[in-house]
Amino acid sequence: MNRPTHSAFADTAEEAIAAQDALDGPMTSEKATEVAMQNTLLTPRFYTTDFDEMDAIDVSPVRADWDKLIAQMKSDPNKGHFKKTDAWEANWDDMDPALKAEFIDFLISSCTAEFSGCVLYKEMKRRGSNSDITTLFQLMARDEARHAGFINDALREAGIRVNLGFLTQQKKYTYFRPKFIYYATYLSEKIGYARYITIYRHLEQNPDKQFHPIFGWFREWCNDEFSHGEAFALLMKTDPKLTESRVNKMWIKFFLTAVYSTMWVRDHQRPLFHEALGVDVTWYGQEVFRKTSEISKQVFPMTLDIDHPRWRPNLDRMEAASRQIAAAKKRGGVGGMLSRIGGMAKAATAFVSIYTIPAIWHDVPESPVMEPAY
Ligand SMILES: [Fe+2]
Ligand SMILES: [Fe+2]
Repeated sequence: MNRPTHSAFADTAEEAIAAQDALDGPMTSEKATEVAMQNTLLTPRFYTTDFDEMDAIDVSPVRADWDKLIAQMKSDPNKGHFKKTDAWEANWDDMDPALKAEFIDFLISSCTAEFSGCVLYKEMKRRGSNSDITTLFQLMARDEARHAGFINDALREAGIRVNLGFLTQQKKYTYFRPKFIYYATYLSEKIGYARYITIYRHLEQNPDKQFHPIFGWFREWCNDEFSHGEAFALLMKTDPKLTESRVNKMWIKFFLTAVYSTMWVRDHQRPLFHEALGVDVTWYGQEVFRKTSEISKQVFPMTLDIDHPRWRPNLDRMEAASRQIAAAKKRGGVGGMLSRIGGMAKAATAFVSIYTIPAIWHDVPESPVMEPAY
């Protein structure tokens, strides 16, 4: 068998990871891998679930839409895309060191998030026997491995990389029941689409702000994420209880609140990165929420009221609390511990205040299928 020489051409996640590992030989980058290994509320985690329950999903109720989506993913329009071309001109040397630090942090965290999807999907493919499910998960694992590989290409030029093989084996896995995987993963795919496309469109209007070539790859990239989100929308459609029962509606609201607020806090920790892009981070957050909410109407019966007077002030409170917690951790000792507890209480209060904002309800269409429209 001819092994692909670059992850961009790999047909499976395994080939993509092997191709990435082969690029460096024994070289490791401990610092980057260490950052990727962190498990806090704000860093991307690795997940595991009840694979047998997922394997038992019957996609017959959504068969027509399902087959169309799988055929489109199999046709693989982005094969070979996630690789540097002549248009790639990265200039790390002239980058302001503080911006460089934030940008590297952004790349490591994005690489970890992409790879988190890859390991979960790859495992589902490995454990499953339901060919509808394993086919989908293999295709999604392939895409995420290419995405993670490409970010690693960018990092490598700055002299670092995330050790993907090491991460798979050593990073802690968090268990989520399948339904929580659907809510969380669906949302992270769709918010990923909204994030990438919003930056891409902004840079189309402001090409002088494109301080690194990787942003030029975002359009095809976010289309992959969009398709992944479509797959989870269809999976949720196979079982109406998932989005219609009273308890599950509360869970959906919880995940919407958690995913949105985490993004807000994380992005506000990278002021220089957003400044360099010429993006107002508060505007960006609200814009991404708006797009994600509009898309998620395809399957969720509610959206969050992001224009409610309690919304933004409490997101800001969570952000301040998260800075307090980080500073307290650094400080250590009894004072640090007390300040940390205080910060956690503040964050929890702000979260409850947001969670209790009345949601906006609407009817959900029969078929969730959507085209990326932004
Ligand atoms: Fe991805
Ligand atoms: Fe994805």
